[in-house]
Amino acid sequence: MIRLVLQETQEYPLPSPVGFKALLRGKVAIITGASRGIGATASHIFADAGAMVVLAARDEQKMESVADTIIENGGKAIVIPTDVTNPRSVENLVQETLKTYARLDVAFNNAGDSHIPTALADMKIDDFDRVVSTNLRGVFLSMKYEIPAMLKSHGGAIVNMSSTAGLNGVKGLADYSAAKHGIIGLTKSAALDYAQMNIRVNAIAPGPILNDRIRQLKDRSLIEQAVPMRRIGTPEEVAFLAAWLCSDQASFITGATVPIDGGRLAGNP
Ligand SMILES: NC(=O)c1ccc[n+]([C@@H]2O[C@H](COP(=O)([O-])OP(=O)(O)OC[C@H]3O[C@@H](n4cnc5c(N)ncnc54)[C@H](O)[C@@H]3O)[C@@H](O)[C@H]2O)c1
Repeated sequence: MIRLVLQETQEYPLPSPVGFKALLRGKVAIITGASRGIGATASHIFADAGAMVVLAARDEQKMESVADTIIENGGKAIVIPTDVTNPRSVENLVQETLKTYARLDVAFNNAGDSHIPTALADMKIDDFDRVVSTNLRGVFLSMKYEIPAMLKSHGGAIVNMSSTAGLNGVKGLADYSAAKHGIIGLTKSAALDYAQMNIRVNAIAPGPILNDRIRQLKDRSLIEQAVPMRRIGTPEEVAFLAAWLCSDQASFITGATVPIDGGRLAGNP
């Protein structure tokens, strides 16, 4: 049945169906914010799916420990200390990736930062600058240097980390919400810029996902009650989505923002 469909549409470059272990086989993948949380988990999952992973964050030691486990499990990973807010550092990340692997196919621009919720007029200007710089400028700089490298490798796929806060306002997190909204704008526009050059650019919008901050809470029930599925998501669930969007299986998806939020954006639970 599938063969028949492939014949009828043979003028289009259809991806062949593959299992998870081959999802990103042979692809070189940069993952920012890879020292902990979703980025560290995504590094494991991208490597399991066959990618050669480039871990990028500021904490070299933590990334080395993630990379060591990937390599012990038979995967391929290198570590490049990177500050996504610094153009020279991001340019160096891409240059070092090309030095090691001679290509770049995939990027998961995941690094992000936030702060304790604060009403807008009380927000510290330094906090605003840091949050916007890490989330929005970081994704801009990442794409600015990744895209030329991908064009040299004849195309690629990028997934940018937004949030449900990129589609709705969040009490006490105006700067974070503005930056995550901005990431969706960057994503859509970059998707249009490169739609005919074989580079797909998408965003994902997670709801609450288990991380160090949520683990430290004594009571998670308020967060859980705000989610129709009545639970917090896992970094693995987010990483699987990012890996699939980066894969050739998602070949006709670009400029999209995909929620992963237990139904949060569907309406009030
Ligand atoms: N956890 C959630 O509930 C949730 C929900 C929606 C979106 N997100 C987004 O997902 C991403 C990852 O979140 P997480 O929960 O894993 O958070 P986390 O704090 O555990 O991880 C953030 C990562 O980004 C890195 N980072 C921060 N500033 C950086 C910089 N200047 N340069 C390079 N790396 C930097 C950190 O070192 C860390 O590796 C963030 O963009 C966050 O906004 C998280």
